[in-house]
Amino acid sequence: MAHIETDLLYTREYRSDAVNLSKPEAFPYFPATAFGSTAFAEIKEAYAQGYTYIRTNNPDRDVLAGLMTKLEAPGMDAGSIVTSSGMSAISTTCAALLKRGDHIVSNRCLYGETVELFDLMLGKFGVETTYVDFADLDAVRAAIRPETRLIYTEICANPTLALIDLPEIVKIARESGALLAIDNTFCGPLSIRPLEWGADIVINSLTKFLSGHSDILLGCVTANRELIEKIYEFSMFIGTPADPFPAFQMIRALETAPLRNERQMANAARLAAYFETDPRIVRVNHPSAESFTQRELAKKLWQDDARITGMMSVEFCTEDDAKIDAFMRKLKYVHYAPTLGGMRTSLSHPVTSSHNTTPDDVRRAMGITPALMRISVGIENADDLIEDFRQAFVALE
Ligand SMILES: Cc1ncc(COP(=O)(O)O)c(C=O)c1O
Repeated sequence: MAHIETDLLYTREYRSDAVNLSKPEAFPYFPATAFGSTAFAEIKEAYAQGYTYIRTNNPDRDVLAGLMTKLEAPGMDAGSIVTSSGMSAISTTCAALLKRGDHIVSNRCLYGETVELFDLMLGKFGVETTYVDFADLDAVRAAIRPETRLIYTEICANPTLALIDLPEIVKIARESGALLAIDNTFCGPLSIRPLEWGADIVINSLTKFLSGHSDILLGCVTANRELIEKIYEFSMFIGTPADPFPAFQMIRALETAPLRNERQMANAARLAAYFETDPRIVRVNHPSAESFTQRELAKKLWQDDARITGMMSVEFCTEDDAKIDAFMRKLKYVHYAPTLGGMRTSLSHPVTSSHNTTPDDVRRAMGITPALMRISVGIENADDLIEDFRQAFVALE
């Protein structure tokens, strides 16, 4: 008989041969950093098709990757990798696919930290990025060089919701031979699936709409198998695979993602329609809005206005700080939060946050004034949301 301290380490009695052990009602959390083997034959098998070490493979990440592939690439011969954040999904993709001397053509309007990643990290390793406005297709074409390896853009811009003409950008990528990567975080696969339109790589920050509870940091890359294998290999080397715990939480979050995201997108369309009628709002940036500058392009990309995005921004009738401050204080439910995609409607003020270092004239040229407020729409009752905004807008007068 072993001593108790040894026994405590090695005794794991449970019904490991139970007929339904593989069918739990909720998928289990596997925090184990490794899976043991008894002898050479089993070790070989584990390396060939089993689980070995946590950074190499993990059941929670596998399940989540499979679900993301179903969402982003239904019926396609594709795969996904799950990374520790949206940023690590982007950096791993670039590290895996680019080398010194390669060139990126990127949309000018991008999540700020992606721009810093391109300039500071990739720049340091000899990869140059040219930024152009993707609304100008000739400018995109003109920026392509023989060494352009990647064309990079988000599906719609933060905070103006400026859209990209996806079929046209796909054509440019095909003609140039460069890979097209799309960050789909603002819309997500329940709205649009860029791979179906011909993009090569799709990136999602799962920290946002798909997780929805504002308590998960995670990212995902989805692409054809050949590309995903390359990206997976680099993810292992540079240590970006996600920890299993958020992956486990995320499997649960995805069970309700369609319910949540459909409500968020429908609420955003309802709010956009209301904002268009309110005199305290001078501009509504949501692709469903009739006054949206790219309304026709929105119709080309989406059939259903209630399934585009839960993101929007509005320009108030005043730039007066004190009035906008009073408006924020008056809101009962909607509140400021430096994130997006959560179940509760939140605001962000680009001039004081994401674009606080951009010169005022440059910001204005991008449509970003002190009167612009970004809104991430939640799952509240739409009438309650409309009422909350309506009563707070009085402060703007
Ligand atoms: C469009 C977009 N892409 C990527 C990211 C980065 O995601 P994460 O915070 O999960 O690293 C963000 C974060 O806000 C984002 O808005």
